[in-house]
Amino acid sequence: MSSMGLIGLQWGDEGKGKIIDFLMDDCDVVVRYQGGNNAGHTVKVEDKKYVLHLIPSGILRADKICLIGNGVVIDPRALFEEIEYLKEKGISVEGRLKIADNANVLMPYHKVIDMAKEKALGSKKIGTTGRGIGPCYVDKVKRNGVRIHDLYVSDKEVFINKLKNNLEECKSILDSEDFKKIGDAEAIAKEYLGYGKLLKEFAVNPVYFLEAKRLEDKKILFEGAQGTALDVDFGTYPFVTSSNPTAGGICTGSGVGPTTLKNIYGVTKAYCTRVGSGPFPSELNCEIGEKIRTTGGEFGSTTGRPRRCGWLDAVQLKYASILNGVNKLVVTKIDVLDDLDTIKIATGYKKNGKVITEFPSDIDFFNDFEPVYEEHEGWKKSTEDVSGFSELPKNAKAYLKRIAELAGCELSIVSVGAKRSQTFSVE
Ligand code: GDP
Ligand code: IMO
Ligand code: MG
Repeated sequence: MSSMGLIGLQWGDEGKGKIIDFLMDDCDVVVRYQGGNNAGHTVKVEDKKYVLHLIPSGILRADKICLIGNGVVIDPRALFEEIEYLKEKGISVEGRLKIADNANVLMPYHKVIDMAKEKALGSKKIGTTGRGIGPCYVDKVKRNGVRIHDLYVSDKEVFINKLKNNLEECKSILDSEDFKKIGDAEAIAKEYLGYGKLLKEFAVNPVYFLEAKRLEDKKILFEGAQGTALDVDFGTYPFVTSSNPTAGGICTGSGVGPTTLKNIYGVTKAYCTRVGSGPFPSELNCEIGEKIRTTGGEFGSTTGRPRRCGWLDAVQLKYASILNGVNKLVVTKIDVLDDLDTIKIATGYKKNGKVITEFPSDIDFFNDFEPVYEEHEGWKKSTEDVSGFSELPKNAKAYLKRIAELAGCELSIVSVGAKRSQTFSVE
C-alpha cells in the first residue's frame, strides 16, 4: 500500500503538474481521475515548458504508465491534439497511455451548450473554461452519455440514433443559431467512430488494470485537477466545476478502493489565486494583487485569462486539509513573495462583529464580511536558488511553518520556482 493522491487545496493552478512530475521520479503509474481539458498543468523541465490538459503530467518521465480514469470527461479532439503536441516535443505516448473504457466522451454539443449557458447567465456567469465540461457531466448523470467503449463497439446505426436523440435534447435548450454550430448526427458519428478506432488501442478496464499494477507492487499516483474550492460538493457552489477534485473522487474516478491510498499530498500556493467568477475571501484588488499576478505569471494555462490574486486563506486551507485527509503539505511559489515587505494570511472572517473560522457552505455568507488577517514580516531575499529548507531565509521558514501549522499537517515539499530542479523535500 504505497499509492498516493495529489490534490489542489485551493481554486486550481496550485502547481499540481509540477509536483506530479517531481513525485513521479519515485512512482510507476499516474492516473487522472476527474475533470477534463479544463485543466492546464504546467511542467518546466529546465528550459522546456509543457502544458498538459488531459494526459497525466507523469507522461514527461520516460517509462511511466499513464491512465486517464473513468471519472475524466474526454474530448477526443483535444486528446489527439495533445498527443500530437507531445510528439512534436519528442515525447511518445506509445504503449504508455491507457484510457478507461468506461470514461465519458465529451461531444461537440457539450461545448456549444457550455458557451450558450454562460452567455445566458450574463453577469452571473460561472466563468467556465468553455470546454463543455459541465454539460458532459450532466449527460453522464442523466444517463445520456457516450462512453469510450461506445465509440468502437457500437453498431453505427445505433450510435447515430443515440446522437439524434441527444441532438433533439440540445435543440430544446439552444437557440437555432447555437444549434446550427453543432453539425448533424451523421457527420459527428463519422468523426467520433473514427476516433473510436484509434481509442480502442488505448482502452482498458480501469478496475483490473489498476489491480494488476497493485499486485505487481507498482506505486500509483493519482493526479487531481482543479482544486478543493472548485469541488461540486464542497466548493463555492455554484461557482465550481462539475466534478470532485477532492480525495474522495479518486476512488470513484479511477476504480480503486480507499484502502489503496497511503498518502495524500495537498498542494497550496504560498498565496491564493482564482480564475473565473465566485467568492474569493482574501482577494486583493490593489497594487499588491497586481504585483503578485505579474511576478507569479498568474495567467491561465488553459484560457490565458488573468488570475485573480490574494493572500493565503487559512480558513479555506484548513477546510481543504480536513476534507482531503492531507498528511503531506506542499507549498509552491514561495519565490513569488520574495520582494514583499509584509505578507498576510487570512485566519478568520468577521461578520456582524463575530469572527468565524469555519469555511461556510453557503456563499451568501460572503456578501457582507471582512477577512481577519495576521501579518508576517517578508524576507526580502531571493529564494529561487534555494535547494533545501535550512537554506531558506529565516522569515520564509517561519512563514512556511505557520502555513503548515494552520493547515494542521506536516510540511513535505517546497517549490521555489517553475523548474523541476526548483523543488525540495522537507526532511
Ligand atoms: P496546476 O494547474 O496546478 O498544474 O498549475 P498551473 O500549471 O496551471 O499553474 C502553475 C504555474 O506556476 C505554472 O506556470 C508553473 O510553471 C508555475 N509554478 C509552479 N511552481 C512554481 C513555483 O514554485 N514558483 C514559480 N515562480 N512558479 C511556479
Ligand atoms: P487546473 O487543473 C483553475 C474553473 C473555471 C471556472 C470553474 C468552472 O489547471 O488547476 P469548468 O470549465 O470546469 O466548468 O469551469 O472552474 N476551472 C479552473 N480554474 N484551474 C483549473 O484547472 C480549472 N478548471 C476549471 O475557471 O471558474
Ligand atoms: Mg492549471
